Amino acid sequence: MKNLSPSLAPGFAFVLVSILSFAAMAFAQKEQNAKSARGVYEELAKAPEKARSRANPLAQDPEAAAAGRLLFEDHCAECHGENAEGGKPGAKRRGPSLRASEVQNAADGALFWVLTNGVVRKGMPVWSKLPEPQRWQLVRYIKSLGAAAPEKTANATP
Ligand code: HEC
Repeated sequence: MKNLSPSLAPGFAFVLVSILSFAAMAFAQKEQNAKSARGVYEELAKAPEKARSRANPLAQDPEAAAAGRLLFEDHCAECHGENAEGGKPGAKRRGPSLRASEVQNAADGALFWVLTNGVVRKGMPVWSKLPEPQRWQLVRYIKSLGAAAPEKTANATP
């Protein structure tokens, strides 16, 4: 390749630059996708340890999930979908699916914390006006949606 003809060299350089910039664009796009997928649920990960470790006082209440379901229909379905599957594309008020593993694997206390504080700048309202027991009922309902998921064993707080 020492004698690369002068007429070919610019073409070669052009192809090389094209390949490199395409690779860079593809990489940037991938980064972007990863970010937005994580983004919707990232608030749950921000719950302070003290809030996260709060146990659901209604954990043993057999009526709690059903009561939570009714509250969900009244307050949440509008954005999160009738069955918490996420708002329909194009809907004006739209929230993510609550059946996602990020939500199902979140601690009850972290969900309660998000309900209490909202993620207002991203369109998730504050629900502190609902009495605490109702917020815990909602948490029970949300978690009941993942009942078919495999048992979590690594949940015991150290
Ligand atoms: C006005 C629309 C709207 C309503 C009503 C609404 N949500 Fe949301 N919700 C959102 C949006 C938007 C997000 C995503 C916020 C983000 O990007 O972090 C969200 C996120 C969440 C999350 C995930 C937390 C996270 O990390 O963002 C949970 C859990 C949740 N909502 C539960 C509820 C429950 C339970 C109700 C009813 C009491 C409710 N939402 C009502 C719009 C709504």
